Amino acid sequence: MKRTHNNGELRLSDVSKEVSLIGWVAKKRNLGNLVFIDLRDRYGYTQLVFDSSFEEITNKIKNEYVLNVKGIVVKRKDANSNLATGEIEVNVTFVNIVNTSELTPFIIADKTDALEDTRLKYRYLDLRRPVMQENLITRHKITKSMRNYLDNLDFIEIETPLLTKATPEGARDYLVPSRINAGKFYALPQSPQLFKQLLMISGLERYYQIARCFRDEDLRSDRQPDFTQLDIETSFMSESEIMDLVEGLFLNILKDVKGYDLKLPLRKFTYKEVMDTYGSDKPDTRLGFELQDVSEIFANNNSDLLKDTAADGTFKAIVGKGLASDLSRKDIDALTLEVKKNGGSFLTFGKVSDNTFTGALTKLVSKEEESELFSKLNLEENDIVFLSAHLSWEKVCKAMGALRNELARRFVSVDKSDYDMLWVVDFPLFEYDEEKGTYTSTHHPFTRPYDEDIKYLDTDPSKVRAHHYDLVMNGYELGSGSLRIYNEAMQKKVFEIIGLSDEEIENQFGFFINAFKYGTPPHGGVAFGLDRIALILTESETIRDVIAFPKNASAVCPMSEAPSLASAKQLKELHIKIEKE
Ligand code: AMO
Repeated sequence: MKRTHNNGELRLSDVSKEVSLIGWVAKKRNLGNLVFIDLRDRYGYTQLVFDSSFEEITNKIKNEYVLNVKGIVVKRKDANSNLATGEIEVNVTFVNIVNTSELTPFIIADKTDALEDTRLKYRYLDLRRPVMQENLITRHKITKSMRNYLDNLDFIEIETPLLTKATPEGARDYLVPSRINAGKFYALPQSPQLFKQLLMISGLERYYQIARCFRDEDLRSDRQPDFTQLDIETSFMSESEIMDLVEGLFLNILKDVKGYDLKLPLRKFTYKEVMDTYGSDKPDTRLGFELQDVSEIFANNNSDLLKDTAADGTFKAIVGKGLASDLSRKDIDALTLEVKKNGGSFLTFGKVSDNTFTGALTKLVSKEEESELFSKLNLEENDIVFLSAHLSWEKVCKAMGALRNELARRFVSVDKSDYDMLWVVDFPLFEYDEEKGTYTSTHHPFTRPYDEDIKYLDTDPSKVRAHHYDLVMNGYELGSGSLRIYNEAMQKKVFEIIGLSDEEIENQFGFFINAFKYGTPPHGGVAFGLDRIALILTESETIRDVIAFPKNASAVCPMSEAPSLASAKQLKELHIKIEKE
């Protein structure tokens, strides 16, 4: 079935040519003697015109039929400026119905009101929608740009196994039972972390991979159980050299895919700075509503609510400029809930009216504290100030960061085609997990501590900073990386601090630590969420819109109905008995 042109191609310069086209029927309109059909393929739409001699066959044609037509290109009387081919149409001389279609469960067009589960159940139809095809094409352009850039710098693409041993990245593993080795399981990789480090020990020096990763964790609009990373590892490069490499990578991606000129170098914030100012380690700095520290003003407060935190706690305020009259009691209750859901213990507020506070804050502050707040926060008529406090600096920052995001969601609209990119550095190596009662790694346990902080590993691990850098774009964590530990004793020590026994270290990482004995080069790397990059560059709302066949929020694929039951025979072969709950 030959075609001379695709459906996005014909222009005025093609008038009078005889052409042959193939595609799907997007729309059919009957106008008296003439029938108009918009023929669609990956490249666009072309308007076909059938005269009454085709009446019998056009009567049969419905949406989503596949047609092969021949015809003559003519100039349209009224051009359609919304279509690339809008100045021409094709007067059909021959038509063949290549295939028919049932009525589709939703109309194949950019705008759809179909439920997401219906779209996912009929994903092959959803992917016919031009906007979805554009998303996948953009994703392809991103990976092409990544490959070009890294190839030019001598990086080689190496695949690592999917059936493997657990890689700790903070989520649960997906396990795959082994038939041949009864009772044993492979883990699907949460990332290729261990293998890429082993490739450095192997001397490959510059590795990358567009890698599939698997994490069993609660899903959100920017998380999938199986997702894709651009994974990079290098030997002998410093932290700043790796960061320069990454900046060049994104300069190229944004230029190649969006024609956007990224301004370099990117801003660098310490973890402390972003938490203090934005209450998040992945801030969008364009949103306003910055957190302000007012701890000093409250140091001697003795109101019932605040006195326990007054001396040693952190007090954070956010000002809503001119928003007092826009926020009802109900709105403030919802914002309070948001703060509490994110670890805050309370949220109080004052609205500015006639140079004084109205609202809950009135009862909590003295006249002197009120006037200090007015001058520190530059408060004016109709402003609203939100206040929260906690003995834990991190907790109050995170809670107020959630409030900041919620206020921005309600009141700020950002230009999605602009990019707010920054680095976050100087992360702590460990976080204390209150539930487990042990330290956990902020990034992962292979991250190298600052030399000057090694002395705290035994005395106060919370003080140890890490050679860990995160790349943030428009409020999303795009990527994380670090310099790695390359010394066996240090690696063991870090495992011990996060609570692994000698036996656990040997069982889980024996093979890995053993490799450190044989001349391990200093190395480091980084990995980026490809899905998240594509989400931002396509201005999508969820990463499901940039993945061909994603799972829904319950980790189910409504099309294939995976995960599904295994047969009794399969379970027996895999030595598995299912217990009824
Ligand atoms: P990290 O765990 O931070 O680092 O992951 C790197 C990036 O992968 C993306 N990402 C996800 N995207 C979609 N769905 C998910 N469930 C998901 N989880 C993570 C994010 C994230 O920034 N091995 C280290 C990297 C390294 O140290 O080199 C790692 O995987 O964009």
